[in-house]
Order: sequence, then C-alpha cells, then structure tokens
Amino acid sequence: MVKICCIGAGYVGGPTMAVIAVKCPSIEVAVVDISVSRIQAWNNDVLPIYEPGLDEVVKQCRGKNLFFSTDVERHVAEADIVFVSVNTPTKTRGLGAGKAADLTYWESAARMIADVSKSDKIVVEKSTVPVKTAEAIERILTHNSKGIKYQILSNPEFLAEGTAIQDLFNPDRVLIGGRETSDGRKAVETLKSVYAHWVPEDKILCTNLWSAELSKLAANAFLAQRISSVNAMSALCEATGADVAQVAHAIGTDSRIGPKFLKASVGFGGSCFQKDILNLVYICECNGLAEVAGYWRQVIKVNDYQKSRFVNRVVSSMFNTVAGKKVAILGFAFKKDTGDTRETAAIDVCKGLIGDKAHLRIYDPQVSEDQIQRDLALNKFEWDHPAHLQPAAGEAAKQVSVVGDAYEASKGAHAVCVMTEWEEFKGLDYGRIYEGMQKPAFVFDGRNVVDVEKLREIGFIVYSIGKPLDPWLKDMPAVA
Ligand code: NAD
Ligand code: UDX
Repeated sequence: MVKICCIGAGYVGGPTMAVIAVKCPSIEVAVVDISVSRIQAWNNDVLPIYEPGLDEVVKQCRGKNLFFSTDVERHVAEADIVFVSVNTPTKTRGLGAGKAADLTYWESAARMIADVSKSDKIVVEKSTVPVKTAEAIERILTHNSKGIKYQILSNPEFLAEGTAIQDLFNPDRVLIGGRETSDGRKAVETLKSVYAHWVPEDKILCTNLWSAELSKLAANAFLAQRISSVNAMSALCEATGADVAQVAHAIGTDSRIGPKFLKASVGFGGSCFQKDILNLVYICECNGLAEVAGYWRQVIKVNDYQKSRFVNRVVSSMFNTVAGKKVAILGFAFKKDTGDTRETAAIDVCKGLIGDKAHLRIYDPQVSEDQIQRDLALNKFEWDHPAHLQPAAGEAAKQVSVVGDAYEASKGAHAVCVMTEWEEFKGLDYGRIYEGMQKPAFVFDGRNVVDVEKLREIGFIVYSIGKPLDPWLKDMPAVA
C-alpha cells in the first residue's frame, strides 16, 4: 500500500487529502499538524473548517484510509510521498518584510523530513511558494540526507474556499512540476498515478519545477487582476451613471474575456491573492524587473482603494460623520460559504468605521465573535502567525458587538453594510429591517446582493458598488 503523509492540516491539506483518500481506497493517507487543537477537531464531529461537502467526504474514509494525527515524525518516516501544505505567510519583519514569503514553516518541515526519514521519498510542494523554493528545499534535504534519495515536486493547489470539494473532485487541471531527469520523471509519474484515480489524463499537466511554481503565483495574480479591473470600472460607473453589472455582462460575453470573475465588490480578500501578489512583486524586484513589479503592485493598490472608497462613501453619505452612529455589518467572511476571515475586506472596512468612532453590530452565519474581535485587534499580515503572538481583543472591542442574526444587527441602526454575499442576505425582509432602523436609513451594499430599486421603494437610501448613484449620494461631497 502506498503511504501518503501531508504536513499541515489546514484549508488545503485537510480537504485535499480527504479527497485523495476517498478517491484512492488503496492509498493510506495521514494528515499531520503541530496544532493539537486542529487535529482534535479533524477527529471530531465538528471539523475545524466549514466547507460544503467536506463532512461527508471525511466521514466516508476517516479511520479507514484517512488519519489525522499530531505524530508528525512517525507518519513522515513511514510515508512514500510527503505533501507539505504548511502556511507560507507574508514576512512581517526583516528583509522583504511586507512582501516576501515567510518560509520559516516550510523550512522547519523540510528539516524535520530530513531528520526522521529512513527511506527514499517524494516531497511535494503543496503550499504556494516563491519560484525556486524547490531548489532551496532540495539543498536542505540533500545536505542532511544520510544517503536517502529525495525527489521534489511542485504540485500547487488551485481550489477556492467555499467550493473546495467540487474543485478537488473536478479540477480544471492538476499541475505537476518535476526535475527533467529520469528520477524526476519517475516521481512525476508516481504522483500522476495518484490523481489518475479520478482526474482525466489530459487534465494532468506536467511541467518543469519552475513553471509549476510560477504558474500558481501567475494564476492568482491574473484572477485578482480581473477583480481589480472590474472594481476600477465600478468607480467610473458611479461617476458616469453606468452600471457595473451591465458593463461586466457586456464585456464578459466576448469569448476572449469570458464571464467569470467579473463581479465588482468591496475588494477581494482571502489568504491567497494579496499574499501571492506581494510575493510576485518581491520576486520581480529581486530580478531587477521594477516595471513588472509595479504593474502587479497596482492590483493590490486598486483593491486597497476600493475598500477605502467604500468607507469614505459610508461616512460622506451620512453627513460626513459616523461618530456614535450604529452601523450593522452583514457578513464578515471574505466570501460566502466559508467561515474564513483571512484578509477579508470586512476587516479594513470595520477598522475604517471604528476609526471614525462608529458603533458596529456584526453578524456572520459562520464566523464566531472571538474570531471577529481578534481580527479587529490584529495588525496587517499578523493573522498567519502563531496564535500566542497575537493580541487579545483590543480597544476596538468596545465599539463592536457580535450578534446572532441580521435583524438584531440592524435594529436601531443608522446604516447597514453588506460585506459578504451570503445567500440569506438576498432574502431578508428589508421592510422589517427598515421599520427598526433610524431614519434616514442607509444600505451600503459591498457585494451587489440587494435589489436596489425595491429597497429605494421601501424608503432606504441605497449605495451599491458600481451602480448608478442614489440622488441623495450625488449631492454629497465627492468620494476620493
Ligand atoms: P492553514 O494555515 O490553514 O494551514 C497550514 C497548517 O500548517 C496549520 O494548521 C499549521 O499549524 C500547520 N503547520 C505549520 N508548520 C508546521 C510544521 N512544521 N509541521 C506540521 N504542521 C505545520 O493554511 P492553508 O490555507 O491550508 O494554506 C496552506 C498553503 O496552501 C499556503 O501556502 C497557501 O498559500 C496555499 N494555498 C491555500 C489555498 C486556500 O484557499 N487556503 C489555496 C491554494 C493554495
Ligand atoms: C483563490 C483562487 O480562486 C484559487 O484558485 C486559489 O487556489 C486560492 O485563492 P479563494 O481565495 O479561496 O481562491 O476564493 P476566490 O473565489 O478566488 O475569491 C477571492 C476573493 O475575491 C473573495 O473575497 C471574493 O469575494 C472576491 N471576488 C471573487 C470578487 O470580488 N469578485 C469576483 O468576481 C470573484
């Protein structure tokens, strides 16, 4: 029986390995992590992450050929293939701080593999890493090898949260990069045979190591760039009376552009886009490509602009101050169908409103109060570093309460801000919400989920990203 071990039981390691286990009953899969609480949760009824369809997959194979364990060293020693799916956050200190990837976790995993291995291994980069990381990992492993042979493969993951299981069951492609030597090609074939259990052969792409590593950063940069492009258009739509949804539809029907990933929003979030583009920018700078770095940096700048533009819109519409006013925040996760809040636009928007002394009442169907308070107390880039280094709920906590539903959040509020496109926000009884609010009652929709006309009929003053402006908003000072 082939044995697989995955180091890192997070949003990628957990679902990916569960799908390998369910699709390959002849393979034993162990997912290991240094976090005891995370592994306990994986072995429990309530899994550590919310992901549609994940529970069923885990239940089918946990305890049969899928195991979650903190016995990292034993499982690594026994494995034929070791996936490394640890976090690769943005560095917060030292050389490249604020841009470069922090490979501390990766390096310590590699050193541990070298320490405990007693047989030849294929080591698979599942984490998103800078180009040429495989070379560094190879050096760590071979300099400590004790005669053991390692083959390093790059096998980046393209799943999106909220749709992880369907993405893993039916991927657009699986990408495997390896050394162009006979041992390298053999290793690629071994990993290919794992995916071939359920992925059609023509969807398994094999490249050299550096192409695979760079393709992951490139894919995320291209995806994020589409969002910043449509978000930049949304600002122009508001200034001209065009409707960004109509513009997106019109350009998306051009088959060369395509309709997906053109939804204007308050800004992209998630653990990947910003981190990976900053990483790409840093690599470009290190290679003397200042113009290329500047081009990609602009994607992040537009995203930051979109978030601050939203805050400015809220404040300027409400007579230029939200001090002491109650604002309901509907949704805190970075997108629907996940409880993940990493880099969610809601954090920056809430911090902006708190900075202007607003009182926030926040509701999200999947995010806990504790998580929200911690997120609002954190500094930029700190979220992906160990919990013991993170601050407890800070000053912001005094201005924030977290409640159990959208009606409670909006009761007595001056304004409602929609931050996440949860389906339930489309079907709310906005008449009831209006009745319970202070007047004039504002809705600021950062996700284009509300029916603008219907809400205006009810009596709301409505702002929806990239839509023709409410006459009220037109009269307010211009938003920078
Ligand atoms: P995560 O933080 O959810 O999980 C990483 C896990 O690794 C943590 O549980 C941590 O405790 C564990 N870990 C760290 N060092 C360890 C060590 N030495 N030994 C054992 N366990 C260790 O992160 P994630 O979202 O799963 O992302 C993992 C990687 O995959 C990142 O490089 C990310 O960029 C990439 N990625 C993420 C997504 C996504 O949607 N989240 C998608 C594609 C790629
Ligand atoms: C992303 C990539 O899609 C995935 O391939 C990669 O493996 C990890 O990073 P993820 O961050 O989980 O996945 O979610 P995604 O669906 O890409 O959304 C990212 C952010 O962009 C969210 O905040 C989402 O709301 C926003 N978004 C997405 C938009 O604002 N408009 C869109 O049209 C699409």
